[in-house]
Amino acid sequence: MNDVTGLADPSRLIEAARVDIAAASSPEALEEVRVRYLGRRGQLTLMMRDLGALDPDARRRAGAELNDAKDRITAALGEAAARLGRAALEQRLAAERADVTLPVQFTSEGRIHPISQTIDEIVAIFGEMGFVVAEGPHIEEDFYNFTALNIPPEHPARQEHDTFYLPPRRGRQSNREATLGAADDGSRLVLRTHTSPVQIRTMLAQQPPIRIIVPGRTFRADHDATHSPMFHQVEGLVVDRSTHMGHLKGCLIEFCRAFFGIDDLPVRFRPSYFPFTEPSAEVDIGCSRAGGRLEIGAGGDWLEILGSGMVHPKVLHNCGIDPAQYQGFAFGMGIERVAMLKYGIPDLRTFYDSDFRWLRHYGFLPLDVPSLVQGPLNGAGAA
Ligand code: PHE
Repeated sequence: MNDVTGLADPSRLIEAARVDIAAASSPEALEEVRVRYLGRRGQLTLMMRDLGALDPDARRRAGAELNDAKDRITAALGEAAARLGRAALEQRLAAERADVTLPVQFTSEGRIHPISQTIDEIVAIFGEMGFVVAEGPHIEEDFYNFTALNIPPEHPARQEHDTFYLPPRRGRQSNREATLGAADDGSRLVLRTHTSPVQIRTMLAQQPPIRIIVPGRTFRADHDATHSPMFHQVEGLVVDRSTHMGHLKGCLIEFCRAFFGIDDLPVRFRPSYFPFTEPSAEVDIGCSRAGGRLEIGAGGDWLEILGSGMVHPKVLHNCGIDPAQYQGFAFGMGIERVAMLKYGIPDLRTFYDSDFRWLRHYGFLPLDVPSLVQGPLNGAGAA
C-alpha cells in the first residue's frame, strides 16, 4: 500500500500493532498498546491529524484507509482482551480446584457449650422415660408466670422472684385480661422468672396424659458470684390419672443417678414449700466436703439440686383439669448449677463470658458421641 500520508504506511502500522498486541501478556500491557496507537498522542491519532494537509482527493482515500486501520486495531485489541480474560479465568480455576471427594477436614475449633451439653444430657435421660420437650416464650404474661401457678398478686413469692417487669401495654387488652375481668396485672408482661409457666401453657393446650421436659432461659434481677440475671432451668411435668408421690421419687432418683453417673447416689426428699405444688419437696444428693473439697456421692453430707412436688389441685383447676380425676408431679432445676457440679466449673459468671480459652477447656467436641448420660467419653477438658 502507498504511503498515503507521507508519514507512515497504515498497513505497516496495523502489522506493528498486531505484534505488540500479541506480546501483551496482561490487561495492563494491553492498555499500554492501545494508548500507543489509539491514545490522544498515539501513532494512528497523529496520522489522522496530518490528513488536513492533503488535497481533498488524497484526504478521502487516506482517511478511509486510516479508519479501516483503526477498526482493525480496535478489533485486535478486543480479541486480545477476551483472550487474556479467558486465560485469567482458566488460571484461577486450575489454582482453586477443589476435590469434593476428599474427606472433610475438621479444624476442631468449635466447641459445644457446657449449658447446651447439659441440656442435651437431661433431655436424653427424660426422653428415655417417655418425656417430650416443650417450650414457651421468654416474655411471659404475669398470668402464666404467677397467677395460674397459684401465686396471686399480693403473694410474697412475687418479691422473692426479683421479677423484670416490662412496661405496661397500652390500649390493648389481652385474652387473659378479658376472661379474668381485667385482674389487676394479669396481663402485665414479665421476663419469665422460671420455666413453670410452660406447665400452665401445656395443661391449657392439651389433656392428660402429659409428660413434658422444658429446658430454657429464665430471668431474675439478681447478679453476684452465684446469680446471673439470665440463667437456665429445666422443668418437668407429669399429669395422669393415678400419678403419685412414689412416681415423683422414683423418677427423680433415677434421673439424679443417671445424670451424675453414680448408680448408688444417695437422694433425699426434704419437705419444702412452693405455691404451685402440695406437698413440695426439695431434692438433695449425697456428697462429701471432706478437706474442703466437694465430691458427689456417698459421704454423709447433702447438696440441694432441685425443687419438686405434687401439682397443686388449684393449678390443675386453673388449667381446666379436674383434680378429682387427675394428679401430677412437677420439678424445676437450675441447669448452670448441675453443670457446675458435674463438670467442676467453679464460677457461674464464666458461662457467659464467651472466653474462647474457657470454652476450649470446658466445652465439648461436636462430633464426639456423648454417652447419653455421662457426657462425651473422650471430650474436651471438662472430665
Ligand atoms: N419453679 C420453681 C423455682 O423456680 C421450681 C419448681 C418447679 C418447684 C416445679 C416445684 C415444681 O424455684
